[in-house]
Amino acid sequence: MIILGLETTCDETGVAIHDAASGLLAHQLFSQAKLHAEYGGVVPELASRDHIRRILPLIEQTLAEAHVQMAQIDGIAYARGPGLAGALLAGSAVAKGLGWALDRPVLGVHHMEAHLLAPMLEADPPAFPFLALLVSGGHTLLVEVAGVGRYRVLGESLDDAAGEAFDKTAKLLGLPYPGGPALEQLAVEGEPGRWVFPRPMVDRPGLDFSFSGLKTAVVNAVHHTTLDDPAKAAIARAFQDAVVETFAIKVKRALRQTGLKRLVVAGGVGANTALRERLQSVAEAARGRAYYPRLAFCTDNGAMIAYAGQQRMAAGEQDMGDEEVRPRWPLGELTPPLADPRLCAR
Ligand code: KG4
Ligand code: ZN
Repeated sequence: MIILGLETTCDETGVAIHDAASGLLAHQLFSQAKLHAEYGGVVPELASRDHIRRILPLIEQTLAEAHVQMAQIDGIAYARGPGLAGALLAGSAVAKGLGWALDRPVLGVHHMEAHLLAPMLEADPPAFPFLALLVSGGHTLLVEVAGVGRYRVLGESLDDAAGEAFDKTAKLLGLPYPGGPALEQLAVEGEPGRWVFPRPMVDRPGLDFSFSGLKTAVVNAVHHTTLDDPAKAAIARAFQDAVVETFAIKVKRALRQTGLKRLVVAGGVGANTALRERLQSVAEAARGRAYYPRLAFCTDNGAMIAYAGQQRMAAGEQDMGDEEVRPRWPLGELTPPLADPRLCAR
């Protein structure tokens, strides 16, 4: 079964082709980062229009790279949410149009489910069950994953998402959008310990996160110092250290509470080297192991959508045709493939 996957939740147009028998055949990505950089963040209307401009040529390129004809596609998976409404509509309209034209099933996939399944695309994938730390621009979630669609959300951010905190801090330091990778680079040069920011909510029980207090600490530091290059780097370093340590403490706690040994870290912030290294040692200290998607599949991409779609469509799941995009879509609402009552009834 060959699935075409389309990702258009935010500012990246991603297309991929996944074959059940031989795995990922091809993937292509067009990042709109340059388009949004001059505004310092994603402009939703520009994002939707650019998805419309890019997606069909990108599908053609991906088919060519995979040596697959359009007629060989068995199903089309698209990111139905969560994300920007207009951007989601661009992908879902193309998916539905192609499905209708080719007479193939179409399925709207949950973007965060796709993120958490992304390590399955690697050579040595984790077995279920595992603990997943999902850290993206819009979400921060700790999830107990028993299988595809079997998710128990253990903790989440009560305010800013981790990626959002990286982006806002980067902006305060005058770094270009998207801020995460730029902040990571700057932090490498930063003097450790010149500032020490709070590790939010680690002294309270529970597994939720909050990053707004950390943001305030950064604002205060920026306003009470001469912001020369060494100061910027030291603040970047202190911010990253605080985020990494917060995740380390909460992940340790979640592994202990659940007894799980395998940890999956996914989503854009999962591309952060300091975080990857720290969480690998946390997992090993708990006599477990951490699994990561390759860097390109931490941030948004079509491959994870094609893979998640493959898992569900192989079980016969498909849209009925009246599905609308879900800009807000809690992960906990998902059910395992074929647990959809409409499908069971058939
Ligand atoms: O998963 P993703 O590509 O998109 C969403 O679903 O939101 O995540 C994007 C987020 C952005 O906030 C970006 O700054 C952050 O991931 N990010 C990073 C790094 N690479 C991307 N944050 C920290 N370190 C990185 N290396
Ligand atoms: Zn994402």
